[in-house]
Amino acid sequence: MAYTGLLNRYRPFLNLPAHTKTVSLLEGDTPLIPMPRLSRELNCELLVKFEGLNPTGSFKDRGMTAAISEALGRGAQTVICASTGNTAASAAAYSARAGLRSIVLIPAGKVAAGKLAGAIAYGAEVIQVQGSFDDALTLVVELTQKTPIALVNSINPFRIEGQKTAAFEICDALLSAPDWLCLPVGNAGNITSYWAGFQQYQKGLPPILGVQAAGSAPLVLGHPVENPETIATAIRIGKPARGEQALEAAQQSGGKIIAASDDEILAAQKILAGEGVWVEPASAAGLAGLLNEVRAGRLDVKGQRVVIVCTGHGLKDPSIITESFLAPRAIQANYDALLAELGL
Ligand code: F0G
Repeated sequence: MAYTGLLNRYRPFLNLPAHTKTVSLLEGDTPLIPMPRLSRELNCELLVKFEGLNPTGSFKDRGMTAAISEALGRGAQTVICASTGNTAASAAAYSARAGLRSIVLIPAGKVAAGKLAGAIAYGAEVIQVQGSFDDALTLVVELTQKTPIALVNSINPFRIEGQKTAAFEICDALLSAPDWLCLPVGNAGNITSYWAGFQQYQKGLPPILGVQAAGSAPLVLGHPVENPETIATAIRIGKPARGEQALEAAQQSGGKIIAASDDEILAAQKILAGEGVWVEPASAAGLAGLLNEVRAGRLDVKGQRVVIVCTGHGLKDPSIITESFLAPRAIQANYDALLAELGL
């Protein structure tokens, strides 16, 4: 049967109201890509759940199909979110599809180019807030409490319902849950969703390794971070809305939440790209955390099946790459110049 999107595929498992009117861009159904070199190095079976292959380039589309479908069915005309970029692009795309007005608030100057361009291309009204993601989220929460505008951040329970489908897909592909699941943690909606999904699906419960960026690691430090900083701007969040649930998920699953430095995150990004999978920096945090744990001898994954969730595509944040090298060399357009340049 032709694939018709997540809500159709998993509807019996999703707690969505009867008024929900499906809005889909055929999100989900993303591949679990084997990583033979990394697997050899770590002595395990390592697979990447490549969420960058969703319609707007990140996992946010899973929750957004659910949140926008519910909002449309209830008669909402306008939706809003605060975002470090990916939620903004996703909300804008699904709103465009549904014919809704979308407004997105982003932290000024801290959103990667591919995400901002996406939000604008899909027709969102984009507002920069002089402050952090956390400040922007506070504003949209107040606005949605006082007006009929629908909130589509992951505080919206239907976002979590949609995002549970990633756990279902992994279990369907592997016929059971993996031995470990590693993923980045920002506002903590995704780790909450995976844990809820695995619990509901009853194909096993993997320990979850949640990874924050060291400069934005409130769940590791045990207190909010007023001025979060990291090159992984997607997870530049100091007060995660679902922080308590994230800690619970890590603890109940037998996993943990740790931090990785920006350098470690960039190194992990390079390793993944070196095996053909280019992800945005935040999306490499899961691997960075896993490598830290394994190399320090705190985690042994020998012979185990490990799934790394790579949440967004590398194309989302091209400048992190292009600013790290000099412009490619230029030669004259003749064969001898090419041979000389290549040293042949
Ligand atoms: N990875 C990417 C690429 C993200 O964009 C985000 C969050 C996360 C990981 C963390 O997920 O918040 O559920 O813990 N991005 C949000 C946004 C905050 O606005 O796009 P989380």
